[in-house]
Order: sequence, then C-alpha cells, then structure tokens
Amino acid sequence: MNTEMQINYPLIIEEHEGLLIREGNPNYSIPNRLEVSKFGTFAESKRAPIHRWFQYPAGFSYRAVEYILDLHNITTDHLVYDPFTGTGTTNVVCKGRKIKSIGVEAHPFVQKVAQVKTTWDLDLRSLQEFKESFLLNLNFSALSASINLETVPELVRKCFSDKNLRGLLNIREEIGKIKDENFRNLFSLALTCALRRSSSAATGWPYISPKKKIFEKDGLKCFTEQINEMVQDLSAIPEEARLVSSNIIKGDARSSPLADESLDLSFTSPPYLNNYDYADRTRLEVYFNGLASTWSEITDTIREKLIISATTQIRRGSYNEDNLISDQLGTASKRVANVLRNKILELKKLRGEKGGKKSYDLLVAGYFNDMTLALLDNYRVLKPGSCFVLILGDSAPYGVYIPVDEMLGEIGLGVGFKDYSIYKLRERGNKWRANPQRHHVLLRESILTLRK
Ligand SMILES: C[S@@+](CC[C@H](N)C(=O)[O-])C[C@H]1O[C@@H](n2cnc3c(N)ncnc32)[C@H](O)[C@@H]1O
Repeated sequence: MNTEMQINYPLIIEEHEGLLIREGNPNYSIPNRLEVSKFGTFAESKRAPIHRWFQYPAGFSYRAVEYILDLHNITTDHLVYDPFTGTGTTNVVCKGRKIKSIGVEAHPFVQKVAQVKTTWDLDLRSLQEFKESFLLNLNFSALSASINLETVPELVRKCFSDKNLRGLLNIREEIGKIKDENFRNLFSLALTCALRRSSSAATGWPYISPKKKIFEKDGLKCFTEQINEMVQDLSAIPEEARLVSSNIIKGDARSSPLADESLDLSFTSPPYLNNYDYADRTRLEVYFNGLASTWSEITDTIREKLIISATTQIRRGSYNEDNLISDQLGTASKRVANVLRNKILELKKLRGEKGGKKSYDLLVAGYFNDMTLALLDNYRVLKPGSCFVLILGDSAPYGVYIPVDEMLGEIGLGVGFKDYSIYKLRERGNKWRANPQRHHVLLRESILTLRK
C-alpha cells in the first residue's frame, strides 16, 4: 500500500469532553447519505449472493467493505485482515475481487459460517449431481425412529413440532455421512440456515420466543430451498476468484497468530458496547449442531472466548473493583483512563439505584481493556502507513454517555498509530425515545480510521 496515501474522510464530528477529534477533508465525495447510513447494518447483505446464506444481524453491509477497499486503494497485490470477522463479509467481498484476506473469529459456530462462505473451490458439476441425488434420497429415507427427542436441548424442541424436528434431525444424520468434507460443511450450513425459516417459534433476532407461535414450514422444503440457493450462488462465481486465498482462523483478535507488519489494511466491526450476547443469540444453531447444550457449556465454549461486550460475560466477584483499568490501557492513554474511571464510578453508583442492577461499570472497563489489546495487536500486524478501520457504535448504559469511537481513537494514538479520523454514519436510538424506561441520549454509528 502507498504509505503516503491520504485518507480523506468527509466529515469529522464535534469535540466531546475534551477528547480531540481530528479534522478531515470536507470536499471528499462519498456514496449517497442513505447508502452510507446502512453501512453498519446487515440490511443490504441479506439479499446479496453468498452474504445472504446466514442472516447474521451483527453483520455489516458488503457495500461498506467495497467502499473501504476502494477508498484505501486496495488491489490484488494486497492482503486484507478482519480481526472480528463474524460471518466473513469482509472476506467474501475480498475474495470476489481476487484480493487475499484473513479473518479471525472467536465464536466457533460463526467462524465455521465464514469458513464455508469462503470455500469456493468446489467441483461444481459433482456438487450439482451430488445435491440432486442427496435430495432425492432424502425424500425416500425413513424418519429417524432411533432419535430420542428427549436428548435434544429443550430450546430446540420448543422451536419445532416433533414431526418437523424428526425430519430435520434425519437430514442432519444423512449430512453426517457425506464423505467429502467441503460438501458436508456446505450442506450442514444449509440445514442450519433453514432452522429459523422453518421454526414454529418466533425466531427473529435477537430473541427466540418459543411461546410465540408462528406458521411452521416444512424443514425439508426449507433445506432444499437453501441448498439450491447456495449452489446457485457458487455457480455464479467467476473462475478466477475461486482459488483466491481466504484464511478464516478460529482465534482471538487480542492475540492473533499473524506475523508482524504483514497486512495492508485491517477493516472490521468489533462487538459494540451494547450488551449484545453473541453466544446467547446463536443458541438455536449452537444447540442444534451439538456445539453446546446448556448455558454453562455455552459460557465455557463461547462466551469466555469473546471480548467483553455484555453483562452476561461478567462474574462480579472475580474483579478487583479498585483497579479496573488495565495497565495497557492506562499506559496507552492516561486521559481516556481517567475519563473512564469517572464513568465507571458513576455507573457503579447508578447500579445501586436502578432496577436490574446491571454491571455496566465492569462491562465498560472490560470492553476498553479488551479493545486496547485488539488495537495493540492490529498495530503490530499492520504494515507502516496502513490503516485499521472500524465501524463502531457509541453507547449510553444507564444514560451515561460513552463516546466509544473517540476513546478508541485516543487509545489508538497511545499504542502507536500516527493519527485517526472519525466519520459519522448515522444517528441511532431514535426509535426508543418515547420509551420512558430507556435513556434519551442520541447515539451514533461511525467509522474510525487509525493510520499506522
Ligand atoms: C459485529 S460482529 C462482526 C460481524 C461481521 N462484520 C459480519 O459481517 O459478519 C463482531 C464479531 O466479533 C466476534 N468476537 C468477539 N470477541 C472476539 C475475539 N476476542 N476475537 C475475535 N472475534 C471476536 C463476535 O463473535 C462477532 O461475530
């Protein structure tokens, strides 16, 4: 990447609480405002080939990736990284453009989704033939009488009628017998993606409500539609893109296994500081695939591996509450550490007064401690002159405003980045304004760009 390159973001937001925001070039022209406002959401990816396979509400827009790759002049000579790669939106776009990429994701099921979405070197003719015979055989195969539904986690049982669930489990059993690993993974993802479509429970994100019944769809039909769509998407991929490397690592963005100064751009959307429990939200998929079967197993195999972004990850007794800010954060930015200490004290006080007794104080400390480690690791792996670009949301737990983008920008300077800029994508939180239970702080989603 050209180390002299200037990133010209169009608009920089106001100064807040003494944390300085650097000025950008106001003349830079960008895609239209409406398009940009959707960058942090999965809305556009829902309909796009490959991206649409798994509807991950935490995912961002593939258009955002295209925009950032263009803005940073990324070509096939470069290597791109997404440290919180989720379902691989960044990697799918890169691969489509024949750009090599790496993704790191700590959630084992989500990492698998990204891996399957970026495995394109399948023999299409055999895949077509195999799919036809697999579906034909499924139509005739007996429902798995041997499966004892009592052994299936309750949440999964509550989401389907017994008949439909037996059908789905039967397909799962048949998929388990597929010899070719890539075919097996593809079919397994198709079945997993069909779960929410066919369920009799309201399985919209974020919560699954087994008590709220909706019209149940036949599992086999949903699976058939899904695998047909996936094979169709794979067939449309240009030949030259099929073998481009896309390495999706199950790992930790705070301590990635990547080599120093090896990457030309890091683009990501980390967990927001918004109490979203990624482990809980994917329970249906995780339980159905046998990755865990109880809350505590989910905690051990998933929750504990993720950066702190939800109070369900906090075990209150296990912190030294007199010293919540890590040494790394304190060293990187004394100013941010001090601002945070005050916010944490305020949140601790509010915890005693408000309902729910949420540990937002520990959540905020844990989030910034973890994000400091992610900033340090990204600084290490980027080539000099390259950028770490993050789509972020700010936060106001119990109404206490936390300017996440500004704080991470300042911490970024402290870990060595030369400068940063912030571009506001949209305002958030309007739809809750009438709710008296909610805070009334207007929030924003933004792009933070740190340059090494
Ligand atoms: C906002 S989502 C990213 C979504 C992604 N842009 C997409 O389009 O699918 C953040 C992701 O970070 C993952 N994550 C959380 N902690 C992590 C860690 N320590 N290392 C790597 N990934 C992590 C979560 O599991 C989640 O999938």
